[in-house]
Amino acid sequence: MSKVKAAVFASGTGSNFEAIMKSENLACEIVLLVCDKPGAKVIEKAEQFGVQTFVLNPKDFSSKTEYEAEVLQAVRSHDVEWIFLAGYMRLVGKSLLEAYEGKMLNIHPSLLPAFPGKDAIGQAFQAGANVTGVTVHYIDEGMDTGPIIAQEKVPVFPGDTETSLKARIQAVEHVLYPRVINEVVCLSEFNTVD
Ligand code: GAR
Repeated sequence: MSKVKAAVFASGTGSNFEAIMKSENLACEIVLLVCDKPGAKVIEKAEQFGVQTFVLNPKDFSSKTEYEAEVLQAVRSHDVEWIFLAGYMRLVGKSLLEAYEGKMLNIHPSLLPAFPGKDAIGQAFQAGANVTGVTVHYIDEGMDTGPIIAQEKVPVFPGDTETSLKARIQAVEHVLYPRVINEVVCLSEFNTVD
């Protein structure tokens, strides 16, 4: 039986993309990378894994709706059923949300609802938190606000720098995200098999 198809949306380095690609027995096939930052490192990573890339600059579109119409066409043309945001630093709009309701996940480097938005690791560090973490959640129209699926705590040690904290958080992300993807995709498959 062929695996259900999925796309990763990313804007940056792509360490989570890489962790997903390297994860053994992933329950879905990553067939497409959508990237909104031409030149981002994640694009090279996708090419190394032989994953097709769809790179577009939102500034080239007159509205979010127009931009998302292109994205929607790309994911649909690849028969994508699931979308995993992995450092995609952009709010998802109505058209994508409606098309992929309940089928879009995001990973965020904090224990949401604490420290949403950009630079969550820096926010936690500056706030002097002694524990932070990682959250995987469904996407909704808000900034890191959708229903939470899984969270894992990460301690902040007295001698930490932002760099050491980021490394500890990302190590957790790289294990947690593929695991949650598998759980959610498998559960959905199980519920739809007749
Ligand atoms: C990850 O830490 C991810 O949790 C975060 O961006 C980083 C991307 O790193 N996402 C957010 O902050 C979403 N609000 P990567 O490009 O190396 O995977």
